[in-house]
Amino acid sequence: MQTSLPLTIDRDAGLPLHLQLAEQFRAAVLDGRLQAGHRLPSTRDLARELGVSRSVTQAAYDQLHAEGWIEGRTGAGTFVTDVVPLQPAVRRRTQHRPDADAKLLTLRPGIPYISPTPDPGWRRAWREVSTQSPPGGYDDAAGLPALRAALADHVARVRGIACGPENVLVTNGTVHGLRLLLTVTRQPGDRIAIEDPGYLNAVVAARDHRLEIVDVPVDEDGLRVDALTDASAVYVTPSHQYPLGGRLPVARRNELVRWARRTGSLLIEDDYDSEFRYDVAPLPALAQLDLERVVHLGTLSKTLSPALRLGWLVASEAMVDRLATFRENSGDWPGWPMQAAMLAMLRDGTSTRPSAADAGCTRTGVPTPARCCRRTARSSARTQGCTSRCSCPTTPTTYGSRPRPVRPASWSRRCPSTAGACRDRQGS
Ligand SMILES: Cc1ncc(COP(=O)(O)O)c(C=O)c1O
Repeated sequence: MQTSLPLTIDRDAGLPLHLQLAEQFRAAVLDGRLQAGHRLPSTRDLARELGVSRSVTQAAYDQLHAEGWIEGRTGAGTFVTDVVPLQPAVRRRTQHRPDADAKLLTLRPGIPYISPTPDPGWRRAWREVSTQSPPGGYDDAAGLPALRAALADHVARVRGIACGPENVLVTNGTVHGLRLLLTVTRQPGDRIAIEDPGYLNAVVAARDHRLEIVDVPVDEDGLRVDALTDASAVYVTPSHQYPLGGRLPVARRNELVRWARRTGSLLIEDDYDSEFRYDVAPLPALAQLDLERVVHLGTLSKTLSPALRLGWLVASEAMVDRLATFRENSGDWPGWPMQAAMLAMLRDGTSTRPSAADAGCTRTGVPTPARCCRRTARSSARTQGCTSRCSCPTTPTTYGSRPRPVRPASWSRRCPSTAGACRDRQGS
């Protein structure tokens, strides 16, 4: 029987003969030359007609049969099925032209300058990771224990939060931590106060969790705490209000924590840009005032690169346990190599140094005098070693009119690595 199809076989094509045949049958079905119910020649006839072995035509039919294009009817022959298989989606290739803009600086806010030359500390960290085997089982859902301990040390020294490894959860960055927190602790319809103007990703996360968003105005100092109304959570960027840049003064921080204690609200501190201080000493994190009421979110996105997707969440032990339990089931935590590399970088000091400042640029790409960066580094070194218990001046002179201090809720730990420095300052 003639197929009436102009089938061709090309022995030089590099594609197996049966696949060439199958491809031509498929094309004929798709363009309508072969209709549902059309009878195909037997494998023997087709082989003779094309001058190929029968195993070739048989293999082609087997393939088409397996894909659902044809069916065999006992005693009657082989027919095109009436359920024409879906045409596979055509994969469109995007033409990636060589990145002509690769050498340009990105001026979008929130994107740090990343030097194209790999940092020696970065290289050391990855060399170290490459000499280790990954753990045999699943990691701790809260993060590598050694990394949690190193991060606890880090936030104690640099952000003044008296905490231990049990207070730290490793995340894929601020937004990841925020979404995890909302998933585990919020119910649809709960009210969350968000700075206005504020960080769009926080708004989107709240919307995705079907929370009711309460816009809270900001002024040049940041969140207007006096404008807070009924909300069970507040998202705030006290270090560097996004996008206006205000630094929440101590009096307002105290007022905010008092408000949260009074109303039972949760404060979500996005420690956005705390590393970029532009020549003023840092204020300690809001979380140092009350780890029971404040969840602190930190990230490597600004000091190393947002592409690393690594950060940390600092909260009460009970909160961290709750989040980690949730993560055990979701399997959603940073992979071991990245965590191990971050641990190496923390031990090395690499991850705590803003790369943008190293390069002499702010996050908006505006050159910063190296002198300023050095002074900032000195001032941060000066303030390292403060715990919430000690009275050494983490609190910079810019505190303003003597605010009434809020008594931290849980001052159980001192920053271990720097207790000496604090004692020195107190003259003991
Ligand atoms: C206000 C704010 N918070 C946090 C981040 C960093 O988020 P992530 O750690 O998820 O990269 C950004 C990034 O631009 C930001 O603008």
